[in-house]
Parts: sequence; structure tokens; C-alpha cells
Amino acid sequence: MTFTLKPVVPNEKQSGVDFGAIIEDLDLETISAEDFEKLFEAVYIHQVVVVRNSGHVTPQTQYELTKRFDPQNIDLYGHGSMHRASESVISRDISPLPEVPQVQLLGHGVVKNHYGIEERKLTHPNHKVFHKDCLTDEEMKRGETRFYRWHMDAALYKLNPPKVTTLFGIKNPEPRREIVRYDDGTDDQLEVQLGTTAFVSGQRAFEILPQHLKEKAFKTQVKYAAHPYLWMSKAKSRSTGLGMVSEGKELSKEELPEINPEDVKVYPMLWKNPVTNKIHLQVHPAAVEDLIIDGKPVGDLEKVREILYEFQRPSISPENVFAHEWKDGDFVIFHNRGVLHSVVGSLRDTDSRIFHQCNIASADAPIPVTEADFTPYLATHPLNTTFVK
Ligand SMILES: [Fe+2]
Repeated sequence: MTFTLKPVVPNEKQSGVDFGAIIEDLDLETISAEDFEKLFEAVYIHQVVVVRNSGHVTPQTQYELTKRFDPQNIDLYGHGSMHRASESVISRDISPLPEVPQVQLLGHGVVKNHYGIEERKLTHPNHKVFHKDCLTDEEMKRGETRFYRWHMDAALYKLNPPKVTTLFGIKNPEPRREIVRYDDGTDDQLEVQLGTTAFVSGQRAFEILPQHLKEKAFKTQVKYAAHPYLWMSKAKSRSTGLGMVSEGKELSKEELPEINPEDVKVYPMLWKNPVTNKIHLQVHPAAVEDLIIDGKPVGDLEKVREILYEFQRPSISPENVFAHEWKDGDFVIFHNRGVLHSVVGSLRDTDSRIFHQCNIASADAPIPVTEADFTPYLATHPLNTTFVK
């Protein structure tokens, strides 16, 4: 290995951040086969790997590098073309680069003469278009913000979730500080850099569950809505960005494009990390239509969301959030099947941000956790110290 990898050292308030690593001396344009193998492992071990000083990386290199993480991939952007439907909650945030359409341009402000794009006005997603209750303009002006939407990058219909996402921060706004407010009846808040990307670990999300919820998670299957981003397009999010408020605003089957039952995705709640074999709790809460617990569908969306919130809310508590402090030229590779992430920030008209993002739908479904994998977590297992008799 010719590069140096340093685990992220979180500040004292981020006591639950046990993931993330930074590399400062690796050129992604000329990476050797041996170094790629090490980088591949590092992404699954550390979940989020930041390769600094990568400002020269081209869209073609980003695309090819992303593909190398999943050689069996089906060579289609993680959302296929479904996100381009104008009502989809994804379409408003990203646009493909004409020269390498698997790489998406995102950010804030006007971009000119950019890899085949003459001019484009970009808008950083703002919680005001997605949350039910929003901060006031005054609050945003004084630097208060929200997690926009906790998610993994995945179509969750027809296509399997990408294994990794690459997120390349070419240009960042001035590094003002902001406060993320949770506004969910707790006093939780988190100080972050303007325009940070926030990550939480699915492995930690599982590890911190009490015993009864670990066992329940193991018995739970997650059924995603067909055409989920259209389905949720009129609904609004909780103030934490972690799942939706239930107001009956989801589109009905009649309002959605044709549904092929074979394309509806049902995945286990727990997924296995292919390198570490660790267990990750991995659910995209906003897109879930039902939970099947011990073979029985819950069948009530409001109840489903309450159950999910109990599983997932602890994982986004301030101490567990890695809010990356972007520098221009940071090339972030993250384990999309092992972490959730969120856009953050209330950018002003004068702020400018230019990012490239790439992920590719996978031919493989996520790896389920087997009885044998789960055995060490059973209450009766001698190594399990979390169970209090
Ligand atoms: Fe994303």
C-alpha cells in the first residue's frame, strides 16, 4: 500500500462516531491495482473514506472508479432513469453530465462551461421543500438548518441499491458554521460546516439497539413502495429528515405509473457487510410502505413509521453523526449499503457549491444476515453482554 489512511478523529461531542477515514496522498487518476484493492477494503471497513487533494479527477475517472467497486454492476445510474420524472423528489436535485451521464452534477449557484453544460442554475436541497414544519427565514439567516433527508442512494424499485457512492466536492461555499436543529421534542442539535454531508453508521445503528429490538430487526423484512420517489412526492418529512409524517398524501396505485409486482423490493432490515461480516441496520425510511415482522405485514403506514423511528432515531443522535467538513477537492467514497447520509444546510443566493456524484445500480441484492451471523447477538449467547437478566 503506497498511501496513508487515517481514521477520522471525532471531537468529544461525537463519541459515537466510530467510522470514517481520510487519505491525503493517493492520486485517483493513477491508482495502481494494488492500491485499489486496499481502497476497496478501506471503504467497507471505514464506511466513509475521504481522498483529499483530488480536484483534478475527471468525470470519466469518477465513473470508472465507481464501477470498479462493483464489477458485476449493470452499468446504470443508481436510479436508472426513474428519477427524471419531473415530480420525483430526486429529479429536482441532480442533473447528468452530458459527456458522462452516469455522473450527476449537483450543488448551488450558477455553473458555466462545465463538462458539456453551458450554463445551469443549481439549487442545494433545502428542507423547506421537504419537511412538514420548517424553520423561519429568520432562523435560517442566523445559521440554523436541518438534516434534509436521511437516505441511502437507491431506486428501491426494480433496481438493487448501489454498493458505493462517490461524492466529489469540487467547490464549496465559505465555511460558515450552522446549527442543525432536530425539533422533535428533544433539545438535540449539532454544529456543522455550511453544506456538510452528514453520515450515520448502520453498524452502530444496529449495535446500540436494545436486545429486544435487535431480535425484532432480525425478524423484519422491509417492503418499499413501488415508484417510491413519486409515491412520496406530495408527502412531507419529519423535522429530523428521518422518514415521513403520515397525512395520507402518498400517491395511490392509480396515480402511479404501471406497477410490476416483480419489481417491488422487499429486503431484510439487517444487511451483512461483505468485508467485515458486521451487521448493519439499513433502511431508507421515507420510501418504506410496509414492514413484515415475523412473516406478518404490519399493514398500517403510520404504525410502520412509528416502528421504524424507534429503530432508527437513536442512530442519528448528535453523538453518532459524522458531519464531514468539506475541503475543495475532497473525493468521498462511501459504503452506500452500510451508512445513511443526508444533505444539510441553508445556502444563500450568493453561496456557490459544485459537486459530482456517481453510483451504479447493482446486479446483486444486499447480503442478508443468517441465523449463524445473528447467533452472537441472541440473549442466550454467552458472549452477549448487552442482555440484562
Ligand atoms: Fe444521496
